[in-house]
Amino acid sequence: MLSNNKYVVIEGIDGAGKTTQKKLLIDYLHSNNQTVCDIKEPGGTLLGEKIRQIIKDSKIIRSPESDFELFNICRRELAQQIISQELTLGHWVICDRNWFSSVAYQGFGQGLPVDLIINQTKKTLKKLFLPDVSIIIDLPVKIAFDRLNQRQQDMTNDSFESKGPIFYQKVRDGYNWLVEQYSIYKIDGQLSIEKNNQAIINFIQD
Ligand code: TYD
Repeated sequence: MLSNNKYVVIEGIDGAGKTTQKKLLIDYLHSNNQTVCDIKEPGGTLLGEKIRQIIKDSKIIRSPESDFELFNICRRELAQQIISQELTLGHWVICDRNWFSSVAYQGFGQGLPVDLIINQTKKTLKKLFLPDVSIIIDLPVKIAFDRLNQRQQDMTNDSFESKGPIFYQKVRDGYNWLVEQYSIYKIDGQLSIEKNNQAIINFIQD
């Protein structure tokens, strides 16, 4: 076994609150003198960061297959260069997104066959296919869009955030499908930040 139940992934649609909950969880682990590796997909390695720039650029036209392959390359490097080493050292690995995003965005959102994504990912990640703790923050699409608009970020440049609510509803459905298939803890992104932070800590302690 590579890990001692310390590989945690936090997932959800853009605007669900992953970044906030990840930060609070990491603060909690640090206050308990734990060493934490803080990562996010796509990115985290030199190759991953280069590919991230391509992925985020909506002017670079790609098919869903190419999108998935780009994410999968990032994922392979992150697993091999970072995650496996960190877990072997006994550190926590807290990751913002993993292949669940590919199922939700490229599969449910963009129409790529979900079994293709899952089979390819199993080959790529092997023992790291399933995290020890998987958390999905669920949020209605309308509320997610309101939050994203408030952040006043440049929505036009981002490949996925510039897609509309119909796309995001499919993505949300994808996450709910994943919750039915795998052992994933679903939390309600409409609850307060503090409540969800406590729920995540309780779940990890269990
Ligand atoms: P990013 O700015 O990292 O979004 P966030 O901070 O909300 O995680 O952009 C990554 C985008 O890529 C995001 O819209 C989700 C999308 N994505 C996929 O479509 N498939 C994937 O496999 C992954 C990891 C991300």
